[in-house]
Amino acid sequence: MWNKIKSWVEIRIGLDDFVRTQLKEYRVPRNINIFYTLGFVALAAYLIQAVSGFFLLLYYVPHSEHAFRSVQDIMNKVPYGWFFRMMHVVGSNLMVAVVFLHMFSVFFMGSYKKPREMTWLAGAFMMFIVLTFCLSGYLLPWSQLSYWATTIVTTMPTAFPYVGDFAAGVLRGGEHVSGITLNRFFALHVALLPPFVVSLIGFHIFLVRRIGISTPPFGESGEEKRPWTGYRHESHLKGHPFYPYFVQKEMLMAMAYFAIMFFIIGFMPALFLPEDTNTPADPMKTPAHIKPEWYFLAPYQMLKLVPNKFLGISLQMILAGIFLIWPFLDKKEEDNITKRPLLRVTFFIVLIVWIVLTIWGKYS
Ligand code: HEM
Repeated sequence: MWNKIKSWVEIRIGLDDFVRTQLKEYRVPRNINIFYTLGFVALAAYLIQAVSGFFLLLYYVPHSEHAFRSVQDIMNKVPYGWFFRMMHVVGSNLMVAVVFLHMFSVFFMGSYKKPREMTWLAGAFMMFIVLTFCLSGYLLPWSQLSYWATTIVTTMPTAFPYVGDFAAGVLRGGEHVSGITLNRFFALHVALLPPFVVSLIGFHIFLVRRIGISTPPFGESGEEKRPWTGYRHESHLKGHPFYPYFVQKEMLMAMAYFAIMFFIIGFMPALFLPEDTNTPADPMKTPAHIKPEWYFLAPYQMLKLVPNKFLGISLQMILAGIFLIWPFLDKKEEDNITKRPLLRVTFFIVLIVWIVLTIWGKYS
């Protein structure tokens, strides 16, 4: 009976064939390292956000009069509500960290180079979307922190002459952050961004599969250089099978991700939920210290240091633009960063400046 069902399905879908060609016979480079699993961990992180977000939606009320209360009820009354909320909050922070690490590793391995420019572009767009997810989600609990952090962020476009006030008005749905802003951010968070990011993830992974995972510039790959045409994974003839070799590594890293997440939920629950998240939003009372999340601290501190707001935001937009089109600017064939002193020094300077600005932003 089972065999009959199997062959019925096999004739129609060709699952065995798919598993053989896409998993068992599909090769990854011989010298592949653990950093190449970070894309998969980012994918797992997104799935956790989608699932926990779905459960939160069952009880969350997107209305300025009820939002704060509904989140408190999820934490205190709904069975396991606290668990899904903590997964969503901790997961959002960890996901940003994993996407950052994935991006750094892709940069360090030179994997963005020809013919992977579009893979980088799709990834960079996803990075912006992930940050927009975080920004829009931050307002939803309607706490003091949500309200005032969103007030600061939505004031930023006003630095631009002519279009600035209009853009801020569109974001807020009025002059100030209000219930209308909450509805807009909610719509963005649950209706617009998810299909966008899912399509981009699909495209990103299609490109990785189509082109084949890049050969790390470190260690012995035993591969010969080939022309840029055709399926690149066919060049990893001496490589390991994707399944089980690489899938096992990916699963191990996803487990490590879960372990870190549950450690934070269990032992450091207030890490990403400071005091101001437990007070309902009060548009009449500005709290003394409002800081954005850790991943926005560096740009936030930079804006504080540049005296002219317009100049500061323009500078950040230029940097974001350079990041987006980086593969088209770096045309050198050499993908081993240890053989490119200028790039290596620039990379570490940018990293150190980012860390210093983040710490400075936190404690200033
Ligand atoms: C939601 C965010 C993201 C997800 C789910 C994701 C997923 C993946 C996956 C599954 C892979 C294949 C395995 C690997 O190399 O790890 C990959 C590769 C890649 N990703 Fe991402 N990624 C994301 C963000 C980014 C970002 C922000 C960038 C860079 C700006 C980026 C650039 C790349 C590149 C260039 C590759 C090809 C690596 C190679 O061939 O060696 N990705 N990504």
